[in-house]
Amino acid sequence: MPSGTGLFVTFEGGEGAGKSTQIRRLAEALRARGHDVLLTREPGGSPGAEAVRHVLLSGAAEAFGTRMEAILFAAARNDHVEEVIRPALASGKIVLCDRFMDSSRVYQGVTGNLESEFIEALQRVAVNGIVPDCTLILDLPALAGLERARRRGAAGDVGPDRFEKEELETHEKRREAFLDIAAREPDRCHVIDAMRSEEVIAAEVLEAVLRQLQGRTSAKLAEAAHE
Ligand code: TYD
Repeated sequence: MPSGTGLFVTFEGGEGAGKSTQIRRLAEALRARGHDVLLTREPGGSPGAEAVRHVLLSGAAEAFGTRMEAILFAAARNDHVEEVIRPALASGKIVLCDRFMDSSRVYQGVTGNLESEFIEALQRVAVNGIVPDCTLILDLPALAGLERARRRGAAGDVGPDRFEKEELETHEKRREAFLDIAAREPDRCHVIDAMRSEEVIAAEVLEAVLRQLQGRTSAKLAEAAHE
């Protein structure tokens, strides 16, 4: 199993897809069922990675180019994996992470115009064997997502971050890039239509994760019966 004894679930998608709301709801639903859940996010999730988060999202690293940004995302990811995610999985927790390696493939690789060999090599170092068991891609048209993200920004009085302020066309490319990843890795990725109501999406997300947990339990039982 790729991630030890726990279960590693990541949420991905463009801006304003509702990832943060859905990941919180999923954490609550799993805890209510008695599971030990760790909720975390990227960039960030560990003290070292949170320090790098500010550098990346403020745009302070933008002037040094996308290659430098990609390396910083990878450095933050590796710290987060080694300090937080790997130990949590080893102790049997369900780890829910808001964005992970697919965001680097899409934002730095596809729309940052970096070669995929470079991005994949960085990811190998960053994740060091900790690959998500299940990735939920919240999908919606870029315009709808941007409108939601801007409304949220206006309500919270925070401006768009370094990656939110790009052109609509760039956001559309990102959407396509996430869908391409899902098509290439259908066993790991589930595409969720994020244009529907929060409740309907939450139910589909929970079902996908419960199915994954059930598959894992059946595999363990089969293994035990074999010994
Ligand atoms: P965040 O404020 O966490 O927002 P959200 O996930 O709700 O969009 O911002 C994270 C930003 O960082 C987001 O615009 C995507 C970007 N990002 C990358 O470019 N590469 C990465 O590897 C990760 C994890 C995030």
